[in-house]
Amino acid sequence: MNDIESYYTQRVSHSKNLLYQVGKTIDGKPVNEHQLNLITQTIKHELKLSTTDTVIDFGCGNGVLTKTLTNSTKTIIGIERNKALYSQASKYLNNQKVSLVNANILHHDTKLLSFNKAYCYEVIQHLTYLETKNFLFQTVKNLPKNGLLFLGGIPDEQRKSNFYNTEYRQRTLAKTLLETGSDPVGTWFLPVFFYELADKLSATCKILDQHKDLYSAQYRFDCLIRA
Ligand SMILES: C[S@@+](CC[C@H](N)C(=O)[O-])C[C@H]1O[C@@H](n2cnc3c(N)ncnc32)[C@H](O)[C@@H]1O
Repeated sequence: MNDIESYYTQRVSHSKNLLYQVGKTIDGKPVNEHQLNLITQTIKHELKLSTTDTVIDFGCGNGVLTKTLTNSTKTIIGIERNKALYSQASKYLNNQKVSLVNANILHHDTKLLSFNKAYCYEVIQHLTYLETKNFLFQTVKNLPKNGLLFLGGIPDEQRKSNFYNTEYRQRTLAKTLLETGSDPVGTWFLPVFFYELADKLSATCKILDQHKDLYSAQYRFDCLIRA
């Protein structure tokens, strides 16, 4: 099991709180329902979700976002690699409109799923730059013309210091760098990375500021890709 896998598996075994399990916390405490609403309203709005849409939720975790969005779509296919979170999602999303796949989003072939929209929320930080490129190439290729992909909660390289703004967080960063060689948040991106990538895909890309009241607005951004 790699570091990311054991991070989420431990969170599931430590708490039944769904927001805690997927790392939606501020200083270790789960964010409130209002924060969840801000996220799902943004996804609904940017993807212009309707009950005719077949949507993929890449890295759906325990389904805490998926469940809220189900009624705004025809169907959602959740893809999640972590077994503990996948099993939580299977219990939580006991709904005919949702199907779940326990798989790595980098290796699961979505060609046969015939989806027209997709989102991937707070997942991209777990991918390297080349994995992100490959993931976007594969996903955009399988979207119909004008199909939409929303990438939410991307760590912003330019505003990293807004996150590492307390002594505790800076010490955690230093310790983790010394132990693993990696930033504990994962990969930080420049918005221009997605503009360049979209260009290569002949797709269009819009970089979006997060809602000002969202817990991550000071150090993450969103991105909407149109095939
Ligand atoms: C911060 S959680 C977010 C979960 C969910 N999207 C949400 O916002 O509640 C990140 C999720 O991405 C999943 N993940 C990371 N890399 C993945 C990969 N290569 N394939 C599938 N899932 C992945 C993790 O297991 C975890 O569930």
